Amino acid sequence: MFASEKSIQYIYANTVTGIGGREHALAWKMSQSPLCEKLFIAPGNAGTSTCGTNLSIGLTDFEAIKDACITNQINLVIVGPEEPLVKGITDYLISHPALKSLDVIGPGKAGAQLEGSKAFAKAFMMRHNIPTAAYGEFTLDNYKEGVEYLQNHPLPVVLKADGLAAGKGVVICENHIEAIAEFELMIQRAKFGEAGKKVVVEQFLDGIEMSVFVLIDGKNYVILPEAKDYKRVGEGDTGPNTGGMGAISPVPFATPSLMKKIEEKVIKPTVDGLSREGLEYRGFIFLGLMIEDNEPYMIEYNCRMGDPETEVVIPRIKTTW
Ligand code: AMP
Ligand code: GLY
Repeated sequence: MFASEKSIQYIYANTVTGIGGREHALAWKMSQSPLCEKLFIAPGNAGTSTCGTNLSIGLTDFEAIKDACITNQINLVIVGPEEPLVKGITDYLISHPALKSLDVIGPGKAGAQLEGSKAFAKAFMMRHNIPTAAYGEFTLDNYKEGVEYLQNHPLPVVLKADGLAAGKGVVICENHIEAIAEFELMIQRAKFGEAGKKVVVEQFLDGIEMSVFVLIDGKNYVILPEAKDYKRVGEGDTGPNTGGMGAISPVPFATPSLMKKIEEKVIKPTVDGLSREGLEYRGFIFLGLMIEDNEPYMIEYNCRMGDPETEVVIPRIKTTW
């Protein structure tokens, strides 16, 4: 999959958050490949500079990325973070006449909606019978209906801003007053910006989380090593959520029988669903799962690898180099 004859490769990396461990892990692995003659990382970080050439290009500066691809005869782009994918970097690059032979690992704007819109992702799961929590979807137009839905919802209840919110758009409420106040903040006062004015209200899943990563070329898929990240900021897994404080792989409870269930109930219907809906998904898909009574439920899709999960997944991948 994604093998390419020419050997100049490019990782579109994220240092805007100041982390970029995911991109360093990808660059580290790519730089060891005999197919990789030259490697560029944009914008990169101190770690990636030991694997290739960092290019000082902003995360969503599509034009500068396109120019760098042409100037450096780049034939493979790996997009690290979600923002450029959701904004359509893949469609932008591959539609340029000078980049006809370019391969991009990362879905187009339509496929990236799986991460860009939680309402889109939930509707996709429903259409393809993928196990997930029951939910309702609300905006200013059906606000009153949303308040009633919340008043009758079992507790705790989960509220999610529809659009990208850097891992902060999910609020778990323990009582109805708090839930309705949060709902008002999101919809009436745009707490998470315009994209957060649509809210998904979801049943709380009580289990243990894990992440599974799949690489898709449109119709075939490869399952990468699974991981579990720890999001809470404090010692002993306490305090507020972050994007991820650390990760482990392998995951001790990911038995072969659980992985088989995940493949049958989540991965296959996801890959088939993408293909049937004509989404032409080529890239990583990250399944955020809750395991309840040894059964997998989808919490969310991400259209890229995880950070910090990539740092523990990439070293476990068996390649020919
Ligand atoms: P998300 O942005 O959808 O990944 O949600 C962020 C975090 O919120 C997840 O990693 C879970 O810890 C938690 N979460 C999201 N949805 C649910 C749910 N339905 N039940 C329990 N926890 C959830
Ligand atoms: N560690 C979670 C994420 O990358 O979204």
